[in-house]
Amino acid sequence: ARLSVNASVGRVIPETLFGIFFEEINHAGAGGIWGELVNNRGFEAGGPNTPSNIAPWSIIGDGSSLIVSTDRSSCFERNKVALRMDVFCDSKGNNICPDGGVGIYNPGFWGMNIQKGKTYKVVLYVRSLGSINISVSLTDSNGLQTLATAKIIASASDVLNWTKAEVLLEAKGTNQNSRLQLTSSQKGVIWFDQVSAMPLDTFKGHGFRTELVEMLADIKPRFIRFPGGCFVEGEWLRNAFRWKETIGPWEERPGHFGDVWMYWTDDGLGHFEFLQLAEDLGASPIWVFNNGISHQDQVDTSTISPFVQEALDGIEFARGDSDSTWGAIRAAMGHPEPFDLKYVAVGNEDCGKKNYRGNYLKFYEAIKRAYPDIKIISNCDGSSRSLDHPADYYDFHVYTSANNLFSMAHKFDQTSRNGPKAFVSEYAVTGKDAGTGSLLAALAEAAFLIGLEKNSDIVEMASYAPLFVHVNDRRWNPDAIVFNSSQQYGTPSYWVQRFFTESSGATLLNSVLQTDASASLIASAIKWQDTVNSKTYLKIKIVNFGSSTVNLNISVDGLGLNSIQESGSTKTELTSANLMDENSFTNPKKVAPLQTLLDKASKDMDVVLSPNSFTSFDL
Ligand code: AHR
Repeated sequence: ARLSVNASVGRVIPETLFGIFFEEINHAGAGGIWGELVNNRGFEAGGPNTPSNIAPWSIIGDGSSLIVSTDRSSCFERNKVALRMDVFCDSKGNNICPDGGVGIYNPGFWGMNIQKGKTYKVVLYVRSLGSINISVSLTDSNGLQTLATAKIIASASDVLNWTKAEVLLEAKGTNQNSRLQLTSSQKGVIWFDQVSAMPLDTFKGHGFRTELVEMLADIKPRFIRFPGGCFVEGEWLRNAFRWKETIGPWEERPGHFGDVWMYWTDDGLGHFEFLQLAEDLGASPIWVFNNGISHQDQVDTSTISPFVQEALDGIEFARGDSDSTWGAIRAAMGHPEPFDLKYVAVGNEDCGKKNYRGNYLKFYEAIKRAYPDIKIISNCDGSSRSLDHPADYYDFHVYTSANNLFSMAHKFDQTSRNGPKAFVSEYAVTGKDAGTGSLLAALAEAAFLIGLEKNSDIVEMASYAPLFVHVNDRRWNPDAIVFNSSQQYGTPSYWVQRFFTESSGATLLNSVLQTDASASLIASAIKWQDTVNSKTYLKIKIVNFGSSTVNLNISVDGLGLNSIQESGSTKTELTSANLMDENSFTNPKKVAPLQTLLDKASKDMDVVLSPNSFTSFDL
């Protein structure tokens, strides 16, 4: 096979081409990238009524020493449920409390990762009829080994009304399966509400779990689409993500039950935090808002205006001056400067639903009137026919087999170049070809992305989905990044995305691949500039989707004065012994890119492509 690259002819790839799609699915946010260790911190997960369900909080002690219940006495208007603890035992008298006292504990999201030497900030709200002497401790999963502990001691008059208490706990040991305990050995009645435990050490100090967000930063995403997906829609509108319920002080947020992915979120990761994350990653935020349509119910276009206003307010929250109504709330949250919100999507996968077009037009007109520069993304696929409504982008989702996705590298070859641009906001190989993240899936995705790169005059943005999965809550397979409380690894699909970090904003070069019909090859070549040293590099990427070794001659013309560096050029290969090989916590880099120095790089060179491989030559 032969690949001829002309380095003097090319076209600029959009700056936005490769980004990420973050959805609150698989506990990607709650228990995932959001650093909060306490699960159900306000005891609201059982709903607004009492008696409530406080899970995963559990009780330390038995009925002779305490009773735990819920009531609606919280000082927070939007989350009234509080936990009441009636303690009958004491440190003296005839009902002595067990060693360590009685109380409650929270195991977080399948165990808290507490690390020796790190500091954790615990904040809680407390009220009591008498004085209090409460131990706040981080312990192992049985409460037997204490990793850190502190006391909250107050007189009756100090805690007669709801009082905020804060302690810093420095861990004296490490345990990935820890819990937070609140215990007392003193007879009395105590109420707790809004109990939070956060590590002090988070990504850029903004509350995100560093190791997970660093994996995103390594992809250099140019945009982040958030917060879903189906999560935005809800199974029913009453459970959809409503941005206004997720801003302001964390204690006051009501939280909500996401009824598509079936779990409670305290919404510590809210509209503000998503915008902050985008800024911290240097990615353009792409906000997907609810357009009055869920999986099961729809708001009629005649009554959609409150939803339109909610979207406008959400944009004002992001972009308004700090003296605007919603911009002022953002400023009070610590971000007086506007966030750089330039893209919004009207709903998710709702095209074809009865009210979509009518509702969409109302959103479109109102947003364009107020914010003419904002780009609007429609849910309707315009790749094979033109849309019947105005849009800047149309959303395209594909989940399919490896063979299908491989051939879809050519999906956009014939698409009309007029009209809105394509946003491939969700793509992945799924089903038996993918397992929980196979090499086979990744190779097909690599080919698909090369196809998008080549069609980037019409496809301006692309993101894999879903991004994260907590191993204890696999709602969707496969995913790009797998984690538990303390570990994480990228699936082969994650590593494929790392091959495209230089593509956005680079120049796509003319390249022609000559190969016999049986070879399943696809290739592209880009020229990109390293902003650090201002040098220009070539990157040639080739997927060998076949099971045979391929000898390939690569020739590069039109380099002008620039010539290929003979030394320092590299070959990076993603492959493995078996197509269905996957990564795991025990072998996190079984299928990961392997970089080697090229012996002699030149304008005309013969290279060998392994069977079932994705290779890049960086020259
Ligand atoms: O990525 C998982 C889900 O797939 C998304 O929530 C939805 O948009 C799509 O159906």
